[in-house]
Amino acid sequence: MDSRPIGVFDSGLGGLTVVKSIKALLPSESIIYFGDTARVPYGNKSRELIKEYSSEITEFLVKKDSKMVVVACNTVSAMVLSTLKKNNSIPILGVIEPGVAEAISITNNKYIGVIGTIATVNSDAYNTALKALDSNIETISQACPLFVPLAEEGWLEGDVVNMVVAHYLSPLKEKNIDTLILGCTHYPLLKNAIANQFNKTTVLIDSADAVARAVQKQLSDFDLLNNKDEKGSLFCFVTDIPMHFETVGQQFLGSPLDSVQIVHDF
Ligand code: DGL
Repeated sequence: MDSRPIGVFDSGLGGLTVVKSIKALLPSESIIYFGDTARVPYGNKSRELIKEYSSEITEFLVKKDSKMVVVACNTVSAMVLSTLKKNNSIPILGVIEPGVAEAISITNNKYIGVIGTIATVNSDAYNTALKALDSNIETISQACPLFVPLAEEGWLEGDVVNMVVAHYLSPLKEKNIDTLILGCTHYPLLKNAIANQFNKTTVLIDSADAVARAVQKQLSDFDLLNNKDEKGSLFCFVTDIPMHFETVGQQFLGSPLDSVQIVHDF
């Protein structure tokens, strides 16, 4: 029994899609969320900068007495997860492996599409992780750099969104993929627009639920679960409060963001 919070972070608000799934599966757990809203997006930054930013945030969450840290950002998970794990003694969980395992369990024809930020796609982390589980898998990857600003602005539908989505996804539509991994925690917000580009048999993988199950397993393995029959809290730290913060935050989390604090020096 451990009532300390789970630390969760992302470059912006996208990681709240993961928080939503953790809250649903583990309602007694308290969560501290850190969204680096002043420095989003990470997906077009260098490995060095992504390492610096994510190390600072992990240190912040450890100082806040987190019992584990969930890297709710594919970009950070793809580029520097092993460094974060090496430099910290508490469990650190990324989002790539849970999504990969789910995609492998769903695909029939073994053609899997992966969409993500430029950094995630260039890292080849999904392709490597998929092939490690099944060498017969064929992956087709596509970076969609404009999806993050669209989601952070709350632009989720309409002509502009459909045009941008159609532009990025056209190379994938030509391939016979039966499974598409949404390899960025911002993309579930654009799920409808993305799904409209494919036929109904293509399954979209939003790894948030798979990540929540992986969190449950790690907490259980390390004897860190909070089994108390009471509702856990959610506290959010952000590095800026951008325009439309409340509306967009609510879209990601599925409920209002009540407790939010800005941090400048951490
Ligand atoms: N939501 C993040 C991800 O999963 C980061 C997007 C970004 O900051 O570019 O990759």
